Amino acid sequence: MDSMANQTSTNLTGKVALITGGSRGLGRAMALSLSAAGATIALAARDAEKLNSVKAEIEAAGGKAAAYVADVVDEASVEKLQKDITAELGAVQILINNAGMNIRKNLTEFTLDEWNRVLDTNLTSVFLLCRAFVPAMKGTGYGRILNMTSIMSHVSLPGRAAYSSSKAALLGLTRALALEVADQGITVNGISPGPFGTEMNTPLMQNPELNAQFVANIPLGRWGKVEEIGALACYLCSEDAGFITGTDILIDGGWTAK
Ligand SMILES: NC(=O)c1ccc[n+]([C@@H]2O[C@H](COP(=O)([O-])OP(=O)(O)OC[C@H]3O[C@@H](n4cnc5c(N)ncnc54)[C@H](OP(=O)(O)O)[C@@H]3O)[C@@H](O)[C@H]2O)c1
Repeated sequence: MDSMANQTSTNLTGKVALITGGSRGLGRAMALSLSAAGATIALAARDAEKLNSVKAEIEAAGGKAAAYVADVVDEASVEKLQKDITAELGAVQILINNAGMNIRKNLTEFTLDEWNRVLDTNLTSVFLLCRAFVPAMKGTGYGRILNMTSIMSHVSLPGRAAYSSSKAALLGLTRALALEVADQGITVNGISPGPFGTEMNTPLMQNPELNAQFVANIPLGRWGKVEEIGALACYLCSEDAGFITGTDILIDGGWTAK
C-alpha cells in the first residue's frame, strides 16, 4: 500500500480512535487511513509483535499510535483496555469494532465451543467494547462507532451459519445502539465488506477453484482493496457523515445487488 493510497480530505485531527483487530488486514488499513486523516490511533489485538509493526508503520508516516494487547472476548481485558487507553491517550471518540473471526464448516459439524468462539468474537465483544467506551462519548456532542458487519449480515453461503448469525446479529446491535445514543450526537453504523484479500480469506484465495468461484460472483470482477475500506471508515467518522446512523454501508463490488 503506498502512502498516497491513505490520503483523505477528512480531518480527524485531535480525535482518538480505537481499532480492534488493528494488527492486520482491514483493521490495519483503517488505522493507516484514520491516522493519515489526523487521528491518534489505539490499536488492540492479541499479537503484540503484529500490533507493534502497525504502530511503527503509522509512526514512520508521521502519525501517532499506541498498541494494546487485549482479548476482546474477555470482559476484564476490555475493561483494562478502556482504563489504559483513557489514561494514556484520553477519551476514545471513535470506536471501530473490527476484530473478528470465521470458521467455515457446515452447521452440523460445528462443536458448541467453535460456535461460541465465533459468536463471542464477532458479537459479544462488540457489546463489551461499546459498554466500556460509550459512556465517555456521551455529553461531548460527537462519537463514532463503526461495526464491521459483512455481506454475510445480508445474504449467506453454505458453511457460514455461525459467521452469518454473528454478523446479522451485529447489524441488530448496530441499529439498537444507534437509537440509544442518537440524542448524544453519537452515530453507530456498520460497514459490510464483500470479499477483501486479507488473512481471513487466505484459505479461499489459495484454492484456485474457490478463488475463481468467488471472483465470478463479484460483478466488479475483483477482490476489494483494503484502502477502499480505509476511505469509507474515514468518511463515516467525519462531521460530513453526521446524519448517517443506524445503518450499514455495503462495500462489496456488487455482490448483494444480484
Ligand atoms: N476480509 C473480508 O473479506 C471481510 C469481509 C466481510 C467482513 N469482514 C470483517 O472485517 C473484520 C476484519 O477482517 P479481516 O479480514 O481484516 O480479518 P483478519 O485479517 O483475520 O484480522 C482479524 C483481526 O482481529 C483480531 N482479533 C481476532 N480475535 C481477536 C480477539 N479475541 N481479541 C482481539 N483481537 C482479535 C486479529 O488479531 P489477533 O489474532 O492478534 O488477536 C486481527 O487483528 C472482521 O470482523 C471480519 O469479519 C472481513
